[in-house]
Amino acid sequence: MSFRSVLAAAGISLRASIWWPFRPRSIVDMSYSQHFMDPQGSAIPTTMKKLVATKLTANFRQAVTLQAGVPVPVPGDGDLLVRNRFVGINASDINYSAGRYDPSAKPPFDVGFEGIGEVVALGRSASARFTVNQVVAYMAPGSFAEYTVVPANFAVPMPSLKPEFLTLLVSGTTAYISLKELGELTEGRKVLVTAAAGGTGQFAIQLSKQAKCHVIGTCSSNEKVGFLKSIGCDRPINYKTENVAEVLKKEYPQGVDVVYESIGGKMFDLSVRSLATKGRLIIIGFISGYQTATGLSPVDAGGLPAALLKKSASLRGFFLNHYLPQYQEAMLTLLKMYRDGELVCEVDFGDVSPEGKFTGLESVFRAVDYMYMGKNIGKIVVELPHPVTSKL
Ligand SMILES: NC(=O)c1ccc[n+]([C@@H]2O[C@H](COP(=O)([O-])OP(=O)(O)OC[C@H]3O[C@@H](n4cnc5c(N)ncnc54)[C@H](OP(=O)(O)O)[C@@H]3O)[C@@H](O)[C@H]2O)c1
Repeated sequence: MSFRSVLAAAGISLRASIWWPFRPRSIVDMSYSQHFMDPQGSAIPTTMKKLVATKLTANFRQAVTLQAGVPVPVPGDGDLLVRNRFVGINASDINYSAGRYDPSAKPPFDVGFEGIGEVVALGRSASARFTVNQVVAYMAPGSFAEYTVVPANFAVPMPSLKPEFLTLLVSGTTAYISLKELGELTEGRKVLVTAAAGGTGQFAIQLSKQAKCHVIGTCSSNEKVGFLKSIGCDRPINYKTENVAEVLKKEYPQGVDVVYESIGGKMFDLSVRSLATKGRLIIIGFISGYQTATGLSPVDAGGLPAALLKKSASLRGFFLNHYLPQYQEAMLTLLKMYRDGELVCEVDFGDVSPEGKFTGLESVFRAVDYMYMGKNIGKIVVELPHPVTSKL
């Protein structure tokens, strides 16, 4: 049950605060065409819908087009064909569609970073490890599609088709690996998390708490403050109603030991100023700049050397793609924590957004808007219903 539905069940209205490349290869052994059966009895269609970046811009609606009648791709020998049932929205979807991940990328190209769904077909080598009808999740390009070809090496078997598992693929692993590798968390450390109520922030809060740290989180509404308290945040700060710099100065005069920083710009500057002696700031992102032409958010770079030297403090950049050797351990640990009831994986389907739940590829555009309006609590997920199972 989501945080918002818990509140709704308790009769608390939320309306007041919510205004509203992998190229497929041909099958080597065609006897494996037997795998091309829908496990639920219906034929796999020959065509599908998918989102494609057709223009390089950070304006997602201008960059990306919903295409219909596209051939369903054929998995190669080591690939799975996955019918996507839930796909995750990430802040960097707009960086990707702007070509910032790969400056040599020329449109058209597929978009979407992660999905969970059923294997509906697979190549011979892939069938050594996976079977038709198996639920898998993956982090690989091209998930904003009804069907995606996923290299088997990129697929993670999942116990069931739950959207909560999807929250771990990018958002959970980012928090887990960055804090483990760069955070040096020990009992009693003070940790500041920005964008704390979002997809990855929610995990940074919980993992820091589990490391017995004192955790401070910034967010933009009282509803998010409530959510942050519910997942153990010691000092949520609604930056719309409280001055973050003043709160930190007054309540944490010695500074904070670790910052998990996702916003950039002024929030980055004040986070650097708030570091304790020997503190460290992990650069997770700078979302406040992603919608601009450069994708950057200006910071006080000139003052940085002195600010860091005076405190023997450090800046540490983190990019998940550079930590793939640590990925499997992170996923297994997070899945176990969730299964054991030690981790909340908050999903936001946009139920309270003006046009309701994010359902179908068409709603990916609304879901990206919703994130950039700062409305989400937890990970934004879009459901791609499948007509056969939705009747069950
Ligand atoms: N380095 C990596 O490998 C990696 C991997 C995954 C994500 N990330 C980064 O983590 C950050 C969060 O990403 P996410 O996908 O989990 O998103 P998210 O946190 O679910 O959503 C973004 C949140 O950022 C906050 N925000 C603050 N200022 C904003 C602005 N000017 N425009 C839009 N949002 C603003 C909003 O919450 P409040 O305003 O309430 O705080 C919003 O809800 C991003 O910087 C992203 O690039 C990095």
